Amino acid sequence: MNILFMSTVDKADLWKQCLTAELPGINIYVYPDCPVAREDIDYVIAWKPPAGEIAKYPNIKAILSLGAGIDGITCDPDLPRNVPISRLVDRCLTQGMTEYVVYWVLHHHRRMDDYARMIAAREWDNYIQADTEQTPVGVLGLGELGGDAAKALSALNFDVLGWSRSAKSINGVTCLHGADGYDEIVSKCRMLVCLLPLTEDTRGILNADTFAGMPKDSVIINCARGGHLVDQDLLAALDSGHLAGAVLDVFHSEPPDPSHPFWAHPKVTMTPHMASLTVPQSAARYMADNIRRVERGEAPLNLIDLSKGY
Ligand code: GLV
Repeated sequence: MNILFMSTVDKADLWKQCLTAELPGINIYVYPDCPVAREDIDYVIAWKPPAGEIAKYPNIKAILSLGAGIDGITCDPDLPRNVPISRLVDRCLTQGMTEYVVYWVLHHHRRMDDYARMIAAREWDNYIQADTEQTPVGVLGLGELGGDAAKALSALNFDVLGWSRSAKSINGVTCLHGADGYDEIVSKCRMLVCLLPLTEDTRGILNADTFAGMPKDSVIINCARGGHLVDQDLLAALDSGHLAGAVLDVFHSEPPDPSHPFWAHPKVTMTPHMASLTVPQSAARYMADNIRRVERGEAPLNLIDLSKGY
Protein backbone atom coordinates (compact mmCIF):
# COMPACT_ATOMS: atom_id res chain seq x y z
CA MET A 1 0.00 0.00 0.00
CA ASN A 2 1.32 3.45 -0.92
CA ILE A 3 0.51 6.55 1.07
CA LEU A 4 1.44 10.07 0.06
CA PHE A 5 1.97 12.53 2.90
CA MET A 6 1.25 16.09 1.74
CA SER A 7 1.66 18.62 4.48
CA THR A 8 3.06 22.06 5.03
CA VAL A 9 3.80 21.10 8.63
CA ASP A 10 7.27 19.70 8.83
CA LYS A 11 6.83 16.59 10.95
CA ALA A 12 6.99 14.09 8.11
CA ASP A 13 9.61 11.83 9.71
CA LEU A 14 7.65 11.48 12.91
CA TRP A 15 4.44 10.78 10.99
CA LYS A 16 6.23 8.18 8.89
CA GLN A 17 7.49 6.47 12.02
CA CYS A 18 4.08 6.54 13.72
CA LEU A 19 2.13 5.37 10.68
CA THR A 20 4.58 2.58 9.91
CA ALA A 21 4.29 1.37 13.50
CA GLU A 22 0.50 1.16 13.03
CA LEU A 23 0.52 -0.25 9.50
CA PRO A 24 3.67 -2.33 9.05
CA GLY A 25 4.65 -2.91 5.44
CA ILE A 26 3.15 0.29 4.03
CA ASN A 27 5.17 2.71 1.92
CA ILE A 28 4.90 6.37 2.85
CA TYR A 29 6.20 9.01 0.51
CA VAL A 30 6.53 12.63 1.42
CA TYR A 31 5.24 14.97 -1.27
CA PRO A 32 6.67 16.10 -3.65
CA ASP A 33 8.84 12.95 -3.67
CA CYS A 34 6.83 10.15 -5.18
CA PRO A 35 9.12 7.45 -6.52
CA VAL A 36 6.20 5.20 -7.60
CA ALA A 37 3.79 5.91 -10.44
CA ARG A 38 1.09 8.41 -9.42
CA GLU A 39 -1.53 5.78 -10.30
CA ASP A 40 -0.16 3.60 -7.52
CA ILE A 41 -0.84 6.00 -4.65
CA ASP A 42 -3.69 4.58 -2.52
CA TYR A 43 -4.17 7.29 0.12
CA VAL A 44 -3.27 10.93 0.57
CA ILE A 45 -2.79 12.31 4.07
CA ALA A 46 -3.05 16.06 3.73
CA TRP A 47 -2.81 19.45 5.41
CA LYS A 48 -3.20 22.41 3.04
CA PRO A 49 -2.07 20.54 -0.08
CA PRO A 50 -1.13 22.78 -3.03
CA ALA A 51 -4.16 23.36 -5.28
CA GLY A 52 -4.45 20.96 -8.18
CA GLU A 53 -2.00 18.41 -6.76
CA ILE A 54 -4.35 15.79 -5.29
CA ALA A 55 -6.08 15.46 -8.67
CA LYS A 56 -2.81 14.15 -10.13
CA TYR A 57 -3.19 10.89 -8.20
CA PRO A 58 -6.10 9.23 -10.00
CA ASN A 59 -6.59 6.08 -7.92
CA ILE A 60 -6.66 7.31 -4.34
CA LYS A 61 -9.25 5.59 -2.17
CA ALA A 62 -9.51 8.32 0.46
CA ILE A 63 -8.06 11.66 1.51
CA LEU A 64 -7.31 11.79 5.22
CA SER A 65 -7.11 15.27 6.71
CA LEU A 66 -4.35 15.97 9.19
CA GLY A 67 -6.57 18.54 10.87
CA ALA A 68 -10.10 18.84 12.20
CA GLY A 69 -10.83 21.57 9.66
CA ILE A 70 -10.84 20.47 6.04
CA ASP A 71 -11.21 23.87 4.37
CA GLY A 72 -7.50 23.78 3.45
CA ILE A 73 -8.30 20.71 1.33
CA THR A 74 -11.74 21.56 0.00
CA CYS A 75 -10.66 25.00 -1.22
CA ASP A 76 -8.83 23.24 -4.07
CA PRO A 77 -10.98 23.85 -7.17
CA ASP A 78 -9.59 20.68 -8.80
CA LEU A 79 -10.25 18.42 -5.85
CA PRO A 80 -11.70 15.12 -7.12
CA ARG A 81 -15.36 15.10 -6.00
CA ASN A 82 -15.65 11.31 -5.90
CA VAL A 83 -12.90 10.56 -3.37
CA PRO A 84 -14.04 10.33 0.26
CA ILE A 85 -12.45 12.88 2.58
CA SER A 86 -12.21 12.19 6.27
CA ARG A 87 -11.60 14.81 8.94
CA LEU A 88 -9.32 14.08 11.85
CA VAL A 89 -11.11 13.33 15.08
CA ASP A 90 -8.60 12.59 17.75
CA ARG A 91 -8.68 12.51 21.53
CA CYS A 92 -5.58 14.71 21.86
CA LEU A 93 -6.83 17.24 19.31
CA THR A 94 -10.16 17.58 21.09
CA GLN A 95 -8.53 17.76 24.52
CA GLY A 96 -6.08 20.45 23.35
CA MET A 97 -8.87 22.63 22.00
CA THR A 98 -10.96 22.25 25.12
CA GLU A 99 -7.96 23.24 27.24
CA TYR A 100 -7.39 26.33 25.08
CA VAL A 101 -11.04 27.42 25.30
CA VAL A 102 -11.33 26.81 29.04
CA TYR A 103 -8.00 28.59 29.65
CA TRP A 104 -9.06 31.79 27.87
CA VAL A 105 -12.61 31.78 29.16
CA LEU A 106 -11.26 31.53 32.72
CA HIS A 107 -8.61 34.14 31.93
CA HIS A 108 -11.25 36.69 30.97
CA HIS A 109 -13.79 35.54 33.55
CA ARG A 110 -11.22 36.17 36.31
CA ARG A 111 -10.01 39.43 34.66
CA MET A 112 -6.40 38.28 34.52
CA ASP A 113 -5.40 41.03 32.07
CA ASP A 114 -6.73 43.70 34.41
CA TYR A 115 -4.87 42.13 37.33
CA ALA A 116 -1.65 41.93 35.29
CA ARG A 117 -1.97 45.67 34.51
CA MET A 118 -2.63 46.40 38.18
CA ILE A 119 0.42 44.48 39.34
CA ALA A 120 2.59 46.07 36.64
CA ALA A 121 1.56 49.46 38.06
CA ARG A 122 2.46 48.29 41.63
CA GLU A 123 -1.22 48.58 42.61
CA TRP A 124 -3.10 46.32 44.99
CA ASP A 125 -6.86 45.99 44.74
CA ASN A 126 -9.52 43.54 43.64
CA TYR A 127 -12.60 43.47 41.48
CA ILE A 128 -15.99 42.03 42.33
CA GLN A 129 -15.85 38.34 41.48
CA ALA A 130 -18.40 37.45 38.82
CA ASP A 131 -20.80 34.61 39.59
CA THR A 132 -19.83 31.78 37.23
CA GLU A 133 -23.36 30.35 37.13
CA GLN A 134 -24.62 33.76 36.00
CA THR A 135 -21.96 34.11 33.32
CA PRO A 136 -23.22 33.12 29.88
CA VAL A 137 -20.57 31.72 27.55
CA GLY A 138 -21.43 30.90 23.94
CA VAL A 139 -19.87 28.30 21.72
CA LEU A 140 -20.49 28.68 18.00
CA GLY A 141 -20.21 25.24 16.43
CA LEU A 142 -21.14 22.11 18.35
CA GLY A 143 -19.14 19.53 16.42
CA GLU A 144 -16.46 17.34 17.93
CA LEU A 145 -14.45 20.31 19.24
CA GLY A 146 -17.19 22.79 20.09
CA GLY A 147 -19.31 20.10 21.75
CA ASP A 148 -16.45 19.01 24.00
CA ALA A 149 -15.51 22.58 24.94
CA ALA A 150 -19.16 23.37 25.73
CA LYS A 151 -19.39 20.33 28.03
CA ALA A 152 -16.19 21.29 29.84
CA LEU A 153 -17.44 24.85 30.40
CA SER A 154 -20.72 23.49 31.65
CA ALA A 155 -18.83 21.22 34.08
CA LEU A 156 -17.22 24.40 35.45
CA ASN A 157 -20.74 25.76 36.05
CA PHE A 158 -20.78 28.46 33.38
CA ASP A 159 -24.16 29.15 31.82
CA VAL A 160 -23.28 27.59 28.46
CA LEU A 161 -25.12 28.26 25.23
CA GLY A 162 -24.19 26.55 21.99
CA TRP A 163 -25.13 27.22 18.40
CA SER A 164 -25.01 24.94 15.40
CA ARG A 165 -26.43 24.76 11.91
CA SER A 166 -28.79 21.92 12.74
CA ALA A 167 -30.52 21.30 16.06
CA LYS A 168 -28.39 19.47 18.64
CA SER A 169 -28.82 18.43 22.21
CA ILE A 170 -26.01 18.40 24.79
CA ASN A 171 -26.56 17.87 28.49
CA GLY A 172 -25.98 21.08 30.45
CA VAL A 173 -25.83 23.25 27.31
CA THR A 174 -28.64 25.42 25.94
CA CYS A 175 -28.47 24.40 22.29
CA LEU A 176 -29.67 26.91 19.72
CA HIS A 177 -29.70 26.84 15.94
CA GLY A 178 -30.79 28.83 12.94
CA ALA A 179 -30.89 32.60 12.47
CA ASP A 180 -32.98 33.30 15.58
CA GLY A 181 -30.72 31.07 17.64
CA TYR A 182 -27.72 33.00 16.38
CA ASP A 183 -29.17 36.34 17.44
CA GLU A 184 -30.00 34.89 20.84
CA ILE A 185 -26.57 33.43 21.56
CA VAL A 186 -24.81 36.58 20.38
CA SER A 187 -27.03 38.86 22.43
CA LYS A 188 -26.63 36.87 25.65
CA CYS A 189 -23.02 35.84 25.87
CA ARG A 190 -20.25 37.64 27.72
CA MET A 191 -17.73 35.41 26.02
CA LEU A 192 -18.25 34.00 22.56
CA VAL A 193 -16.07 31.18 21.28
CA CYS A 194 -15.96 30.39 17.56
CA LEU A 195 -15.38 26.74 16.67
CA LEU A 196 -17.38 26.65 13.46
CA PRO A 197 -16.24 24.96 10.28
CA LEU A 198 -15.31 27.49 7.61
CA THR A 199 -17.93 27.28 4.86
CA GLU A 200 -19.56 29.76 2.51
CA ASP A 201 -22.27 30.23 5.17
CA THR A 202 -19.88 30.93 8.02
CA ARG A 203 -17.21 33.00 6.25
CA GLY A 204 -17.18 36.47 7.79
CA ILE A 205 -19.78 35.55 10.43
CA LEU A 206 -17.81 37.43 13.12
CA ASN A 207 -18.60 40.82 11.68
CA ALA A 208 -19.94 44.24 12.68
CA ASP A 209 -23.51 42.91 13.07
CA THR A 210 -22.38 40.14 15.38
CA PHE A 211 -20.25 42.50 17.46
CA ALA A 212 -23.02 45.10 17.68
CA GLY A 213 -25.37 42.37 18.91
CA MET A 214 -23.01 41.27 21.69
CA PRO A 215 -23.34 42.77 25.17
CA LYS A 216 -20.96 45.63 25.94
CA ASP A 217 -17.60 44.52 27.33
CA SER A 218 -17.83 41.02 25.98
CA VAL A 219 -14.95 39.03 24.59
CA ILE A 220 -14.56 37.06 21.39
CA ILE A 221 -12.38 33.95 21.18
CA ASN A 222 -11.70 32.69 17.66
CA CYS A 223 -9.98 29.36 17.42
CA ALA A 224 -11.63 28.19 14.20
CA ARG A 225 -10.38 29.96 11.08
CA GLY A 226 -9.26 33.49 10.24
CA GLY A 227 -11.89 33.54 7.48
CA HIS A 228 -14.67 33.65 10.08
CA LEU A 229 -13.58 37.08 11.20
CA VAL A 230 -13.85 40.47 9.51
CA ASP A 231 -10.70 41.98 10.96
CA GLN A 232 -11.63 45.63 10.42
CA ASP A 233 -15.02 45.10 12.09
CA LEU A 234 -13.35 43.59 15.14
CA LEU A 235 -10.87 46.45 15.37
CA ALA A 236 -13.72 48.96 15.17
CA ALA A 237 -15.68 47.14 17.90
CA LEU A 238 -12.62 47.02 20.17
CA ASP A 239 -11.60 50.62 19.52
CA SER A 240 -15.09 51.97 20.10
CA GLY A 241 -14.98 50.36 23.56
CA HIS A 242 -17.90 48.03 22.80
CA LEU A 243 -15.89 44.80 23.02
CA ALA A 244 -13.47 44.30 25.89
CA GLY A 245 -11.08 41.94 24.16
CA ALA A 246 -10.36 39.28 21.59
CA VAL A 247 -8.32 36.11 21.70
CA LEU A 248 -7.27 35.08 18.21
CA ASP A 249 -5.48 31.88 17.29
CA VAL A 250 -6.25 31.96 13.56
CA PHE A 251 -5.82 34.62 10.90
CA HIS A 252 -6.54 35.34 7.25
CA SER A 253 -2.89 34.83 6.49
CA GLU A 254 -0.63 33.05 8.92
CA PRO A 255 1.42 34.65 10.22
CA PRO A 256 -0.39 37.95 9.65
CA ASP A 257 1.60 40.65 7.91
CA PRO A 258 3.95 42.41 10.40
CA SER A 259 2.01 45.63 9.82
CA HIS A 260 -1.32 44.05 10.85
CA PRO A 261 -2.84 46.05 13.75
CA PHE A 262 -3.65 42.86 15.71
CA TRP A 263 0.02 42.33 16.64
CA ALA A 264 0.24 45.37 18.86
CA HIS A 265 -3.39 45.94 19.80
CA PRO A 266 -3.76 46.21 23.58
CA LYS A 267 -7.09 44.36 23.57
CA VAL A 268 -6.01 41.52 21.29
CA THR A 269 -4.27 38.38 22.47
CA MET A 270 -2.73 36.47 19.59
CA THR A 271 -1.51 32.87 19.59
CA PRO A 272 0.22 31.27 16.58
CA HIS A 273 -2.47 28.74 15.50
CA MET A 274 -1.58 26.46 18.37
CA ALA A 275 -4.95 26.15 20.10
CA SER A 276 -4.76 22.46 19.37
CA LEU A 277 -2.05 20.68 17.46
CA THR A 278 -2.26 17.25 15.92
CA VAL A 279 -0.24 14.76 17.95
CA PRO A 280 1.15 12.24 15.44
CA GLN A 281 1.52 9.41 17.96
CA SER A 282 -2.19 9.55 18.73
CA ALA A 283 -3.58 10.63 15.35
CA ALA A 284 -1.68 7.91 13.47
CA ARG A 285 -3.80 5.28 15.25
CA TYR A 286 -6.95 6.94 13.97
CA MET A 287 -5.53 7.24 10.45
CA ALA A 288 -4.55 3.57 10.49
CA ASP A 289 -8.03 2.52 11.72
CA ASN A 290 -9.57 4.57 8.99
CA ILE A 291 -7.34 3.07 6.31
CA ARG A 292 -8.14 -0.43 7.55
CA ARG A 293 -11.85 0.40 7.28
CA VAL A 294 -11.50 1.50 3.68
CA GLU A 295 -9.43 -1.59 2.89
CA ARG A 296 -12.31 -3.69 4.28
CA GLY A 297 -14.68 -1.88 1.95
CA GLU A 298 -16.26 0.32 4.64
CA ALA A 299 -16.67 4.09 4.51
CA PRO A 300 -14.02 6.04 6.42
CA LEU A 301 -15.00 7.55 9.76
CA ASN A 302 -15.93 11.24 9.94
CA LEU A 303 -16.60 11.57 6.28
CA ILE A 304 -16.99 15.08 4.88
CA ASP A 305 -20.21 16.04 3.16
CA LEU A 306 -18.91 18.23 0.36
CA SER A 307 -22.36 19.73 -0.21
CA LYS A 308 -22.26 21.12 3.36
CA GLY A 309 -18.53 21.85 3.27
CA TYR A 310 -17.72 20.06 6.54
C1 GLV B 1 -6.40 22.96 12.94
O1 GLV B 1 -6.58 24.09 12.68
C2 GLV B 1 -7.24 21.88 12.53
O2 GLV B 1 -8.08 22.06 11.64
O3 GLV B 1 -7.11 20.78 13.10
